[in-house]
Amino acid sequence: MSSPQTAAITAVHGWLPPDVLSNADLEKMVDTNDEWIRTRTGISERRILKDPEKATSDMVAKVIEGLCDQRGMSAEEIDLVIVATVTPDMFFPSTAQLACHKAGASNAWGFDLSAACSGFLFALRTGGQFISNGTHKKVVVVGSDKMSSIVDYTDRTTCVLFGDGAAGVLLEADPTGETGIQDAILRSDGAGGQYLRMQGGGSLNPSSAASVEAKMHYIEQDGRPVFKAAVTSMADVSYEIMERNGLSGDDISWLVPHQANLRIIDATANRMGVTREKVMINIEKYGNTTAATIPLCLWEWRNRLTPGENLILSAFGGGFTWGSIWLKWAMEPEG
Ligand code: ACO
Repeated sequence: MSSPQTAAITAVHGWLPPDVLSNADLEKMVDTNDEWIRTRTGISERRILKDPEKATSDMVAKVIEGLCDQRGMSAEEIDLVIVATVTPDMFFPSTAQLACHKAGASNAWGFDLSAACSGFLFALRTGGQFISNGTHKKVVVVGSDKMSSIVDYTDRTTCVLFGDGAAGVLLEADPTGETGIQDAILRSDGAGGQYLRMQGGGSLNPSSAASVEAKMHYIEQDGRPVFKAAVTSMADVSYEIMERNGLSGDDISWLVPHQANLRIIDATANRMGVTREKVMINIEKYGNTTAATIPLCLWEWRNRLTPGENLILSAFGGGFTWGSIWLKWAMEPEG
């Protein structure tokens, strides 16, 4: 029999770089326009981490510091840090190790997890296991991506979509099981890998003058097949998790969708029977921050959430990877 103990979110924090890249700025860089970007994606602006000395781990460290402030605890109390990212500072050491060092989480072990835009859900599920099985007391799960480091700002089909940012949560046990992660459905299909990837710098195509010449160090996406798969898979898996738990649209307080495209979000909400005012949407301000979108929503909405509310977190991303998590919110709104 499984333990009734669940992993509950007991702190949430986000960090966004101050520099804004607007649609108007992009009009000066590539052949695009504000109207196309807004109607096709819902994005008006995104944030860019311009400081060349700063990387994904610096954003993660800010998130860890914020979580500790909110929970009134020291970083030394953290047992484990999982960083979901496709833009690690480097292949190794892992971004988690670098961030723990920067934030003073000297007693934590940690690792990076790669699942593109579904990264936060994969990491939340993984981190939650360490809490529910009772082996760890304080687990930090962060989604952080410096997408500007892998975006080709001469490719209009991708550069308008992505932004930089980080956000994460602290997980602790709810011994009653009444709040926290209730269920998860996570899926992947490597056959979709060809439509959304960064080919250079790995063991198949190690970095070389030729790989750079071929622009393999940039993200490449064939938008239409990704869009089609995203609309179907994200809606299906969100519906499936509701159905198998006997939840209707009225039972759901909030849908927290990955922010890649407003049309994908609307298709998911429609399938679930959830009305727009119950959907967290901030894509217009930040674009697609990959692993950071879902925790950034949780952070921005934290003072509108009350304990016991049902949240469905849903994502689709490169891999392909997709999934849904049903959780019950545990935190009281701040003062
Ligand atoms: N500005 C103006 N025109 C453009 C732009 C642009 N920035 N980009 C493309 N176009 C043009 C295309 O060239 C095309 O022109 P053509 O008809 O003459 O060939 C036309 O606009 C339509 O292009 P589509 O690709 O069909 O546009 P679509 O409506 O599919 O929107 C988009 C493109 C926004 C990328 C969409 O396909 C999408 O959202 N895809 C899914 C993205 C996603 O969910 N990714 C997964 C998460 S990301 C991750 O995991 C890292």
